[in-house]
Amino acid sequence: MIIAPSILSADFANLRQDIAMLNNSVCDWIHCDVMDGVFVPNISFGIPVLQAIKKHSQKPLDVHLMIVQPERYLTTFRDAGADILTVHLEASTHLHRTLSEIKNLGMKAGIALNPHTSVEQLYDVLYLTDVVCMMSVNPGFGGQKFIEHTYMKVSKLKEKIMQENTSTLIEIDGGVNLQNASILKNAGADVLVAGNFVFTAPNPIQIIQQLKEV
Ligand code: DX5
Ligand code: ZN
Repeated sequence: MIIAPSILSADFANLRQDIAMLNNSVCDWIHCDVMDGVFVPNISFGIPVLQAIKKHSQKPLDVHLMIVQPERYLTTFRDAGADILTVHLEASTHLHRTLSEIKNLGMKAGIALNPHTSVEQLYDVLYLTDVVCMMSVNPGFGGQKFIEHTYMKVSKLKEKIMQENTSTLIEIDGGVNLQNASILKNAGADVLVAGNFVFTAPNPIQIIQQLKEV
């Protein structure tokens, strides 16, 4: 299991310390949630903060764009340090072009799906998709309750990925904890994002280890 703790739940006044903790943990990626206050009803952080995270991170940055017209910023986020760049299907009119551009810029390309979006909608671009970020909460905030319907979507998408024989990873984002992690793994999840569950724990390093071993 690939573990991507979400920096959204870190202490923004002590980011360097939290990044050092993640560097010392067995996590694989650092998940960075960029919100514009338009696509989602919240504003998180943007390019300068991402650059600062990149400076201290020893792990790849998994950048989740919750912004409208993400195609305007692909090069900017690559230059700021994104290794995996994920755009929302609901925010991208020309998704085929956007995914191709992300890959041409040398990053892994991700598509995020809101809870109401069916997995069928990405079948025609699956072969271009390195990561599907399946939202298991409505995007915008950390610490929300996991939506159980996600399990069905994961199984369905996993079946399609096996059929098509693509190397697409299924990432689960929102409300992940140790209880749902093992069910998600059995359903076919490859990557777990966890914000609140990691950063509110007395020992985040141990929680990351436990998630890794589900
Ligand atoms: C929600 C973000 C998530 C969030 C997950 O809009 O995309 O990445 O940080 O946080 P938890 O694990 O607290 O639900
Ligand atoms: Zn996210």
